[in-house]
Amino acid sequence: MSIISTDIQKAKALLSADKLVAIPTETVYGLAGNIYSEKAIKAIFETKQRPLFNPLIVHIASIKNIDTIVSYVPEKAKQLASVFWPGSLTLVLPKSDTIPDIITAGKPTVAVRVPNHPLTLKLLKQLEFPLAAPSANPFNRISPTTAAHVEGYFKDKIEMILDGGACKNGIESTIVGFEHDEPIIYRLGSIAIEDIKAVIGEISVKNKKEHNPEAPGMLDKHYAPITRTVLSTNISEDIKKYPNMRIGIIEFTSHSQSNVVKHQITLSNRGDLAEATSKLYGALHRLDNSDLDIIIVEIFPDTGLGKSINDRLSRAKTK
Ligand code: TXA
Ligand code: MG
Repeated sequence: MSIISTDIQKAKALLSADKLVAIPTETVYGLAGNIYSEKAIKAIFETKQRPLFNPLIVHIASIKNIDTIVSYVPEKAKQLASVFWPGSLTLVLPKSDTIPDIITAGKPTVAVRVPNHPLTLKLLKQLEFPLAAPSANPFNRISPTTAAHVEGYFKDKIEMILDGGACKNGIESTIVGFEHDEPIIYRLGSIAIEDIKAVIGEISVKNKKEHNPEAPGMLDKHYAPITRTVLSTNISEDIKKYPNMRIGIIEFTSHSQSNVVKHQITLSNRGDLAEATSKLYGALHRLDNSDLDIIIVEIFPDTGLGKSINDRLSRAKTK
């Protein structure tokens, strides 16, 4: 029997019994458990094979619940939350005493967001506890944007995937923290820097390990296909470098056809960044399962969401 289901009551019962349920969000699917259940949280780290030094994001039903999670909200964090929640913004703020250390990997701050997916919001409203939910992929693999992706990863390891369809945005949330009340982007993501600046003005970006050992999740190699993956600004030229190989290409927008390529995916015929972003992880999943020797991915235009995608691609490419 498939573990994919839309039964919220079943999800509620499992989560209330310290079990894990994969949940849909507008960014990517999450592997969720009760933040106060040590058993569930340990199971999240074990199931994902995630190192314990990498903290989890807490998901809440509404901004009204934030005082149970954090001890202080800077003014600019309030402005961001009021504009972007429910939505793809994660705030890193001083944690309240009741948040278990395993959630924050011992750090004094906690990451929190209100996701924007009707099923998951309905579930969160019925639960008596918030949900910790990292992306529902094994450590270092591509994040899942459909229930089927999660099933491919964890079929034998979890009891249920709440099916909320394909994730609308298709890339993880943007993470914003504060140092001395100044906002800093720890992870580029689903909300473009330009949109954040429009609300709170200038913001610095520290999304590389060498810039910020405080953002432990930002490892150089991450979000990666198993198949060798290279980036390109000129696909038709670069194809020639790999004679006699089974090549898959993922192009941002439509270019000329090539008959040496086995698989070709165009992310957005009309060159729309949001559309292309929403389809990228699915395309990587598909080509990674297509028995290829190499995947060549076209670099996105370096603006808006394109910046977030190029950040992910630079971590997905084979070193
Ligand atoms: O879109 C998303 O954010 C998805 C969905 C499921 O909500 N979740 C997600 O979680 O991407 P995960 O665990 O894959 O990524 C969480 C990131 C990691 O890079 C982690 O290091 C960072 O958040 N993080 C969590 N708590 C932090 C903290 N206190 N300080 C700095 N970074 C933190
Ligand atoms: Mg992740």
